[in-house]
Amino acid sequence: MTALLEARDLARFYEVKRGLFGATGTVRALAGVSFSLQPGKTLAVVGESGCGKSTLARLLTMIEPPSEGSLTIGGVDLKLATAAQRRVLRREIQIVFQNPYGSLNPRQTIQRALEEPLLVNTRLSAAERQDAALAMMARVGLRPDQAQRYPHMFSGGQRQRVAIARALMLRPKILVLDEPVSALDVSVRAQVLNLLGELQQEFGLAYIFISHDLSVVRHIADDVMVMYLGRAVEMGSREALFAAPQHPYTRALMSATPQADPERVRQRIILQGELPSPFSPPSGCAFNPRCPLAMEVCRQERPVLEDKQGRAVACFAVAA
Ligand SMILES: Nc1ncnc2c1ncn2[C@@H]1O[C@H](COP(=O)(O)OP(=O)(O)OP(=O)(O)O)[C@@H](O)[C@H]1O
Ligand code: SF4
Ligand SMILES: [Mg+2]
Repeated sequence: MTALLEARDLARFYEVKRGLFGATGTVRALAGVSFSLQPGKTLAVVGESGCGKSTLARLLTMIEPPSEGSLTIGGVDLKLATAAQRRVLRREIQIVFQNPYGSLNPRQTIQRALEEPLLVNTRLSAAERQDAALAMMARVGLRPDQAQRYPHMFSGGQRQRVAIARALMLRPKILVLDEPVSALDVSVRAQVLNLLGELQQEFGLAYIFISHDLSVVRHIADDVMVMYLGRAVEMGSREALFAAPQHPYTRALMSATPQADPERVRQRIILQGELPSPFSPPSGCAFNPRCPLAMEVCRQERPVLEDKQGRAVACFAVAA
């Protein structure tokens, strides 16, 4: 099957001023990741705050261009795409943020918010737009009598339903979901995750599902990419990763989320220290200052992703 989306060595650097005297430096927010996404599948992207997840989301949705690397969507290399092709691709890949307040206009009714993408991008009549908005509201579990309400009149879960509905109005092929349930209560979280599962089936959607919490992606991911300081450290099928995580960082993340596997009693590994800054990452393996298995070589050389134990993993300590 040809991939719907293909990222190769995708990187994003930011020039920033440091300190009072204005010395500049480079933050390697995303230091080179490669993966592919198949139609209808879910790739979960997991890692601690600051590891580059939202930066990746901004590149995938063309909000920002990559500093290096290539991105191919629907067979079109973005670097070579014409303006017309870009317009089409922008419709085909949509984003949902953690906080829908950021994407919903507080002075716009829900119905108008849902109609707006159609108004801008299609030639549908007013009546057709209204029908489409109401149909999508029903599809995400909102009532027709809520159409004239404003975002602040909804609960967090309902607002996230609105944001999802809005992202689907142009019938995209890919949704990038950046921490879509992280701000929701646990009970509401399950409902929104179920809804996302149903919508994926119904519309044949592919998801990039971003989360800092492995337990959230456990039931919805087909594949999982674990990131640390702008790079993938382990990537493979959900089954392989959850059955036997290999990278010390993945293991630590998993032991920090006991709900990920309630049946198994495990030794909790505590991650020591803070996530270092992507401004000055540690030499060698970026995880070495926090790694219980770190060896001398880990301070000198950076391990690359290699196929080991039925998945890709970047660690000198994992046997082939
Ligand atoms: N525009 C920018 N200018 C400078 N640095 C940036 C910019 N955007 C992101 N960064 C830095 O890049 C790194 C990655 O940020 P990013 O927002 O992608 O992380 P994240 O994984 O989404 O974190 P979180 O879980 O907190 O949302 C961070 O160190 C952040 O401070
Ligand atoms: S390469 Fe070394 S420091 Fe990095 S995760 Fe593996 S054992 Fe730990
Ligand atoms: Mg983020």
